Amino acid sequence: MKIYIDTADIDEIKEAYSTGNLDGVTTNNTSAAAYAKKKGRRMSPNNVRDMAYEIADVFEGDCSISIETVGTPDFNPSNISVQQIVDEVGVIYSWKLDRKKELYAKLPSTRKGFDAAWIIKQISGAKINATLGFSTEQGVNMAHVGADYFSPFVGRLENRGGNGIEVVENTLKIYEAEKLPTKLLFASVREINHVKEAHRLGCHIVTMPLRVFKQFTPEELYEMRQRKEPVGDSKLPAIKPEYVEIADELARTLTDEGLAKFIGDSKDVGYTLLERAGQT
Ligand code: E4P
Repeated sequence: MKIYIDTADIDEIKEAYSTGNLDGVTTNNTSAAAYAKKKGRRMSPNNVRDMAYEIADVFEGDCSISIETVGTPDFNPSNISVQQIVDEVGVIYSWKLDRKKELYAKLPSTRKGFDAAWIIKQISGAKINATLGFSTEQGVNMAHVGADYFSPFVGRLENRGGNGIEVVENTLKIYEAEKLPTKLLFASVREINHVKEAHRLGCHIVTMPLRVFKQFTPEELYEMRQRKEPVGDSKLPAIKPEYVEIADELARTLTDEGLAKFIGDSKDVGYTLLERAGQT
């Protein structure tokens, strides 16, 4: 299982990396906004790119860095568009890093994210982290269009009475049965037991805040990193798969709320991947 840190704060990333047990970083619009405020700057496309470069510089070798898209030209969640997501992922894909350091573009596990992921996988080799996952349907939808990672937000789901572990377990079972190559990234970790569960269930990756990371000894982290999870080898279908509606109302609500919050935090600091008209 790979171990990632869930922050955009460079000092936290360095601290986790110094243990010798860090494989990657997940940022999101909220953590990037916090990073921007700490640095006292707005997040133009160049600044988002520099944030990615700064994180990559911490690592001497292989690493995975996830950078979030916004998906709307005017920070209005009602105006999220497939084309905007595709274009933003294209920008992230254009940032060249050392060969061993891979960028993953985060896009929402919604119907628009599904449509965008399908297009992206037809036209480029961009890596996708399908985020804001609260149900197995979302995990399966996004895997069917070739998402490289699916991130179920276990902590957020549990905080609202849902069963995040069940979502992880069921999604993993389907990935295995269908030999899907998507990796399950256990996200929204609140406590040490989440990490232990991620390991017990056979997740490919877990991302956690520094607060939880520091509760493990380097030996425990090292031990968890030794296990290599199998990855399926099924190919993308030639014809676009059917989108399966998300039946669970809580999952739909949490996805919408999560998107609105991410977009609000982006607006706060002007976090953007495409230049926006009239932006200061
Ligand atoms: C994952 O990629 C997300 O950034 C993250 O785990 C969200 O966690 P939160 O619920 O603590 O915001």
